[in-house]
Amino acid sequence: MVSVPFDQLEGLIWMDGEFVKWADARVHVLTHGLHYASAVFEGERAYDGEIFKLTEHTERLHESARLLGFQIPYSVAQLGDACRKLLEEQGLHDAYVRPIAWRGSDQMGVSAQNSRIHCAIAAWPWPAYFDPAQKFKGLRLDIAEYRRPDPLTAPSKAKAAGLYMICTISRHAAEAKGYADAMMLDWRGQVAEATSANIFFVKDGRLHTPKADCFLDGITRRTVIDLARARGLDVEERAIMPDELEGFEQCFLTGTAAEVAPVAEIGPYRFEVGDITSTLTDDYLNTVKPTKAIAAE
Ligand SMILES: Cc1ncc(COP(=O)(O)O)c(C=O)c1O
Repeated sequence: MVSVPFDQLEGLIWMDGEFVKWADARVHVLTHGLHYASAVFEGERAYDGEIFKLTEHTERLHESARLLGFQIPYSVAQLGDACRKLLEEQGLHDAYVRPIAWRGSDQMGVSAQNSRIHCAIAAWPWPAYFDPAQKFKGLRLDIAEYRRPDPLTAPSKAKAAGLYMICTISRHAAEAKGYADAMMLDWRGQVAEATSANIFFVKDGRLHTPKADCFLDGITRRTVIDLARARGLDVEERAIMPDELEGFEQCFLTGTAAEVAPVAEIGPYRFEVGDITSTLTDDYLNTVKPTKAIAAE
């Protein structure tokens, strides 16, 4: 169900160094980023007016662009300021923030060495990524048909628009069957991640998560690993084959949008929404809140 289309929301968008009216933040149909996926983006969340790990996100945006062979014409500090000012202009405290950089419309064709690099940032309220009722019971995941590519096939460390083509196909296919999302394997047939979040499993009090060697090593993933270790839990980053899912007790996803989301089902495998998942969900939510908000509680 689509409510107000995203290009018709109210407010301002930061675009190429200035704030423009939401409706005026447009690109030409001959934009290289649209035809050849020469675009990289970030997904950030603000809690009580502060963007969690803003510098890490902005550095990753720069690195993603470098991996696609272009340089964003704004420094990490300039983009960070722009994100913060945008939240102020939009009057948002709890929000999702979406910076994106792309090759413009100066040249058409695979080669576009001299195209101008554009950059924009939008922010909007986005309270829940998954339906809260489904999240409460634990999400149901299908197993995707497409696999995360070999890092020799694509720059897998980049949060690049092109890498999301198979994510959208996989999520649509899963939703058509009544699932919330899909778990993707990698090109070797190992468990990789969901379409927009990393994945963890719990067995005998230990966490197991696939080694991030061909997909995004999420900022939430690393935060949750630190939180688990701070609680004295062992975290193993290793190759996980799908038939191992049979023996895992709990499963959850991590991502900026998804936060920590329990999983109850992946294809034929079942999991409980257990204590470790609930504890790490709470720990994560306590961590993302700025300290001034916690002090006021
Ligand atoms: C494909 C994919 N994997 C993992 C993640 C989790 O990354 P992060 O925790 O940095 O948001 C995301 C979200 O950006 C994603 O889109």
